[in-house]
Amino acid sequence: MKAIISAISHFVPPNVIPNSWFEDKLDTSDEWIRTRTGISERRFLEHGATSDLIVPCIEDILKQRNLSPEDIDAIIVATITPDNVFPACAASVQKKVGLTKAWGFDLSAACSGFLYGLQVGASLVESSAYKRVLVCGADMMSSILNPEDRSTYVLFGDGGGAVLLEQGEDDNYGILDSRLYMDGRGGTNLYMIAGGSAKPTTVETAANKEHYVVQDGQSVFKAAVIGMAEVAAEIMTRNNLTADDIAWLVPHQANLRIIEATRNRMGLASDKVMINIGRYGNTTAGTIPIALSELYRDKKIKKGDKIVLASFGAGYTWGAIYLRWAID
Ligand code: UT7
Repeated sequence: MKAIISAISHFVPPNVIPNSWFEDKLDTSDEWIRTRTGISERRFLEHGATSDLIVPCIEDILKQRNLSPEDIDAIIVATITPDNVFPACAASVQKKVGLTKAWGFDLSAACSGFLYGLQVGASLVESSAYKRVLVCGADMMSSILNPEDRSTYVLFGDGGGAVLLEQGEDDNYGILDSRLYMDGRGGTNLYMIAGGSAKPTTVETAANKEHYVVQDGQSVFKAAVIGMAEVAAEIMTRNNLTADDIAWLVPHQANLRIIEATRNRMGLASDKVMINIGRYGNTTAGTIPIALSELYRDKKIKKGDKIVLASFGAGYTWGAIYLRWAID
């Protein structure tokens, strides 16, 4: 049977950072940030780590489904900001929530991490090997941003979300199709120079600030506009979906202009696109589960709704998933 999302939750830290906060620190303005990206504010986690963004989501999911921590069989954490390089962030979360029967792992696919995780998690559930699998997408981007770089510091935020996957009872619902891609030739357009085995952290790399996000914004922008729009159109064609059929496009939230290009390519009305970049900025692996969870929380999705998720990010990685909502 197909894997369905049987519960969903998200968490963003309470500390709101408005665009104006950057104006005293950097040569930037609220007007530049809003018009180039669509971002008005984002959240920064003051104390803690990425696992602390995920733990409240899982506690809420367990409550929604009336489950105990031991009922979970596996946990996948999509993130590029794990608590430590190793052990896995999944292990930190497992310990904090007490998921004593769960195995799990981290998945590094940046902004597409949640979609990659959803595909892997759905396969585990569909195979009947594991009954209940948590797929989480979260990033504490504030931990890897250069506070002196106006071209990246203003773009990102902290936050995360999670879903529980279980087998459904009707194969017309759940995760129905996915198209996932990767092109490593885009790697150095959005990356961290040091801190990996290619260039381990030294006093010099730290002094050169090579442990922060580096982005060639225009190159990523050009690739994202094409990549996200094309894959969203491809998933529609493969599944004979018209714009009228689709209840919601839930896109990765990196830039309003990239989202708009995808919406146009799909021929969708603007009221069918979930946009919350204005409030949270780009939370990397967190954007899609946060957006989907907000739609559900606000009762804007109903059982049977056809939903397309789409992303583009570092790697490059990109993709789209087609699902039919399975819960009331
Ligand atoms: O989620 C992962 C994938 N990432 C993305 O999808 C991001 C894709 N890229 C983008 O969204 C956009 O390229 C950015 C929002 C990052 C930048 O927007 P842009 O329209 O491509 O601007 P730009 O990089 O071409 O920069 C235009 C100007 C430059 O000044 P000059 O050379 O024209 O004098 C920048 O130095 O804006 C300047 N600039 C800023 N000015 C004020 C760059 N950052 C800022 C800033 N405030 N924060």
